[in-house]
Amino acid sequence: MLVGMTVYHCPADGTRSEITALTWCCPVCRGPWDLDFTPAGGVAPNALSGRVDSLWRYEEFLPLAAPPISLGEGRTPLVPLTETVSAKLDYLMPTLSFKDRGAVMLAELARRLGPDRVVADSTGNAGTSIAAYCARAGLPCTVYVPEGTSPKKTEQIRAHGAHLVTVPGGREATALAARGAADGPGVFYASHVFNPYFLHGTKTYVYELWEDLGGRLPDALAVPVGNGTLLLGAALATAELHALGLIETRPRLIAVQAEAVAPLAAAFHAGADDLPPADPAAVVPATLAEGIAIPRPPRARQILAAVRASGGTFLTVSEDRIREAQRDLAGRGFYVETTGVACWAAVREGGRAAPGSVVVPLCGAGLKTGMAG
Ligand SMILES: Cc1ncc(COP(=O)(O)O)c(C=O)c1O
Ligand SMILES: [Zn+2]
Repeated sequence: MLVGMTVYHCPADGTRSEITALTWCCPVCRGPWDLDFTPAGGVAPNALSGRVDSLWRYEEFLPLAAPPISLGEGRTPLVPLTETVSAKLDYLMPTLSFKDRGAVMLAELARRLGPDRVVADSTGNAGTSIAAYCARAGLPCTVYVPEGTSPKKTEQIRAHGAHLVTVPGGREATALAARGAADGPGVFYASHVFNPYFLHGTKTYVYELWEDLGGRLPDALAVPVGNGTLLLGAALATAELHALGLIETRPRLIAVQAEAVAPLAAAFHAGADDLPPADPAAVVPATLAEGIAIPRPPRARQILAAVRASGGTFLTVSEDRIREAQRDLAGRGFYVETTGVACWAAVREGGRAAPGSVVVPLCGAGLKTGMAG
């Protein structure tokens, strides 16, 4: 059952659509959908003990009921790094990245809708995760990735039985190829960017922190931002917890991008509400943080608004700082992929960047990329 009478709505122009349709974007502006969803009610964090040991324990807050295709995703450990900074080990997820939080939602939605096939596009981890959950759900799946995606990620996608399409020309070209396929009949586009169910999965990152910290949240959440799915999930969860009276203050969102590909950081610091018009001649520089190298995130406007509303900011990290942070974490026992170290790279040099208590996600396993040097 889809919970309640949920519908998609377009945050830009208010267009609405039934969830049962395979319409993956707003037919008026081609933008991403949001979900009309309000949690069924609150629950005290200490009332959760004894529930299933996965993200499905937060059932009051989720738009889908616990599915048979769960791989036990969620409930990742929170481990101190310094006196004020803790790491949440989302690289310990079933497919070794935080994307499982959202992918399980999309695969479960697809399973209920029964499409002929599922299509996804990704810099690697989201596609891997969709491939795994589609395998679990018995759904045929095609994943589009940009040329140059880490070989371990493409190997993992293939291992789950998905059809892999490598697209020349970078992340934008990959997204366009997938969207072309998504317009075909009988296709469910498991887009972590356009489909809002994904954000209702990533939001469990914050529900877990809230439970682990006894009904509180840290002063700040540092979050890597490419398409902003973890960031928007975090914003959603803090808004829901606040609306239900389950937290008093909301954490600042510290959004982190690679210096080489930082369109949102630039827009934020220029005081803009959205990205400037696309420059078709622009070349996207390479970065070690491949998972957040997104030149034109479709939810840019929402991401900028969420960071501002939280009183947070954008930080950027150089390639050297990414390399150093990865070595530093490995030296402390955490083997993390190059994108997954970006937040630690941004906040590790003291409290000025993010004063107070802060949680950083270590959100992809080191085995996916190896060491950068
Ligand atoms: C390890 C890792 N961290 C962060 C991100 C960024 O997520 P998003 O594009 O939703 O902001 C990704 C995306 O692929 C990733 O793989
Ligand atoms: Zn629209």
